[in-house]
Amino acid sequence: MADAWKEAMELAEKTARRAGEVVCAALQVERSVMTKSCSVDLVTQTDQQVEQLIIQSVRDKFPTHRFIGEESVAAGEPCVLSDEPTWIIDPIDGTTNFVHAFPFVAVSIGFSVNKQMEFGVVFSCLEDKMYTARRGGGAFCNGERLQVSSQEDIQQAMVCTEFGSSRDPEVVEKIFCSLRAVLSIPTHGVRGAGTAAINMCLVASGCVEAYYEIGIHVWDIAAGVLLVTEAGGVLMDVQGGPVDLMSRRVLAANSPALAERLLQEIHSFCPIRDDAAPSL
Ligand code: IPD
Repeated sequence: MADAWKEAMELAEKTARRAGEVVCAALQVERSVMTKSCSVDLVTQTDQQVEQLIIQSVRDKFPTHRFIGEESVAAGEPCVLSDEPTWIIDPIDGTTNFVHAFPFVAVSIGFSVNKQMEFGVVFSCLEDKMYTARRGGGAFCNGERLQVSSQEDIQQAMVCTEFGSSRDPEVVEKIFCSLRAVLSIPTHGVRGAGTAAINMCLVASGCVEAYYEIGIHVWDIAAGVLLVTEAGGVLMDVQGGPVDLMSRRVLAANSPALAERLLQEIHSFCPIRDDAAPSL
């Protein structure tokens, strides 16, 4: 049977590449930085420009489709995932990296229908790596099939996580308690690329065994979730059970066994859900 969303996925890839060119060009000039929810939650004109570029390209071809875009939500658009075909966009995942020219920055585009992710595209602009995944069709990087690591021993594992942008002392304390616990198992190490989307692609590629974070948003992970599952990995909530894209919590791992082991070390908390916040 023909793939109903083939054309949409091709458009996502093409648009992510164009968006990546804009991001790379912007890295060559001075970037003016603004803030959103707090002084370390950054945004630039490039984030806004790239999101509009993606939305316009999609609208031209699919005028009835819906959008959840990081900067549109920040500007007051609702963050609602309906059954309609919906493009979930992070124009620059790793905005803080972008501001500092720290070389991991991604354009992330997820596409969902009936609240189920159909495809995900993550373009790691500076590495020139195009990660793609189609539900039931596998995960790829620059056309090469991806497979998660087969390492199930947590003591031989490398784990990705991030510190996020909350500086609430209670949140910072929980993040550090989890970090100490994960390091002390002991694992081989803990890393973070500064972008949730790339961290998930690293799980899909088998470079790290797991990634967890509390405080991410739906646009950070929508594309990455398919990369992980289509590469043979699993997704969970940080307290176990299925992941909820709007809950701002995610654990991605190469296997259920490793995910369950990691769950024991994570000090969880509940940020305000993406679909509950009026705007960011
Ligand atoms: C952020 C990145 C970062 C993660 C934050 C995200 P943004 O996304 O993915 O790695 O720690 O939680 O919000 O703001 O750069 O799109």
